[in-house]
Amino acid sequence: QRQMCIRDRRKLIPALYHRHCAGQLPEQARIITLGRRDLSRDDYLASIFDKSHAQISEKYFNAEQWQAFSGRIEYRKLDANSDADFDNLAEHLQDAQDRIRIFYLSTSPDLFAGICQRLARSDLVHENSRVVLEKPLGRDLESADAINACVESVFDENRIYRIDHYLGKEAVQNLMALRFGNSIFEPLWSHGKIRDVQITLAEQLGVEGRGEFYDATGTLRDMVQNHLMQLLCIVAMEPPISMDADNVRDEKLKVIRSLEPFTAESVRANAVRGQYQAGIVNDDKVPGYRDEPGIGADSRTETFIALKARINNWRWSGVPFYLRTGKRMHEQVSEVVINFFSLPHAIYPASEHGDSVNRLYIRLQPQESIELHLMAKQAGDRNILKPVKLDLDLTGSGERHLDAYERLLMDVVRGNQTLFVRRDELNAAWQWVEPIMQAWDASEKPPKFYPSGTPGPAAARDLIVRDGRCWIEDTDQG
Ligand code: BG6
Repeated sequence: QRQMCIRDRRKLIPALYHRHCAGQLPEQARIITLGRRDLSRDDYLASIFDKSHAQISEKYFNAEQWQAFSGRIEYRKLDANSDADFDNLAEHLQDAQDRIRIFYLSTSPDLFAGICQRLARSDLVHENSRVVLEKPLGRDLESADAINACVESVFDENRIYRIDHYLGKEAVQNLMALRFGNSIFEPLWSHGKIRDVQITLAEQLGVEGRGEFYDATGTLRDMVQNHLMQLLCIVAMEPPISMDADNVRDEKLKVIRSLEPFTAESVRANAVRGQYQAGIVNDDKVPGYRDEPGIGADSRTETFIALKARINNWRWSGVPFYLRTGKRMHEQVSEVVINFFSLPHAIYPASEHGDSVNRLYIRLQPQESIELHLMAKQAGDRNILKPVKLDLDLTGSGERHLDAYERLLMDVVRGNQTLFVRRDELNAAWQWVEPIMQAWDASEKPPKFYPSGTPGPAAARDLIVRDGRCWIEDTDQG
């Protein structure tokens, strides 16, 4: 449950603090943190303070508000395998029978089924109860299905919130608004106009004290099967009939089902896995993956993945989707880049500023932005073009953007499942990544090593260069 400790301090508590400050938590709302450690409430609050505080910008931190907010927090020791502990919890909650109850399971997925059964056994689940499940849900299709079947024996699908925090990010919401709230992009949004799509989720962080969890999980399960695939769905989905949860999820599911399945052979050609070695990130020397605490000395777990994917449907036929994600990379950036085709015939001389491909950048991190890169005439020179950026200012209004967890937690309270993953979507995503896992498990070859602080193994570059293209940071405009 180490993963849980990190998430509650860094993500959940700060998110709830902000919603408290915004006056969105009802006066009687309580936050009960359950963990294995035997801590007093004060010790627990002290243990979360520094990390939570660090996530809240000074501008929005107010000691009085924090004091009032922390008055809502309780800590209780609970062993996820103990019936008695759940009975005690039920007794503790007896005076709050009719309230909305949200059980947020940020534990290892192996515990989800047992926890749900114990919640039911101790009569903690009522009509107003909802459960939130963190990813990765299971290790493969079979285990995910078994967990879901168990959870569904306690909670109906419309009370299960499978959280993928990428869906709650402001820029992802904006990507949907851009696509489905404007008329000008739709005619451009398909093969014939779009040459390729690149999605990069690059982190400079390493495994951050989560060595054991990470080593058993790897990047495919931690980032690709969920965050990367969900982003791909938002880029590639058809316009839904409405923003109603099932309409949106039906369209995402169709995208996943249209993805060309991998075979052992196409994994060799179109999938690269890497693992970081010691190196320098932001001027700091960092250890290699195998030297991190909790990692086996000859671990073959991947910390980097690059894939070339294809969506076999009418809109996307022939358009390659290049996907990449890794830890300890040279930069911290999450972005979607849409590369449009170049001109069929150039009447201006080649630009000295690089290629003249029009691009749309949707940047999720570090700074949310949407930029359209166009060519314009250079002042004074009649025939010389230079790239210019049309920048959609997403941060200029001065309003604070909600963190993904703030939006998603409030959606759970309000009962809105649009930004949560449905069981059939999850299954389809597992089905798509399984051949990759199987091919790598069967392979004798270790992951390709890359020094920390670099853009991943050379093979990731080859994957795209052989198609006559390059990753966006390698273009002159990148
Ligand atoms: C989590 C992964 O889901 O997402 C982490 O488990 C990863 O390994 C994190 O670091 C990245 O999220 P974000 O919002 O920081 O890009």
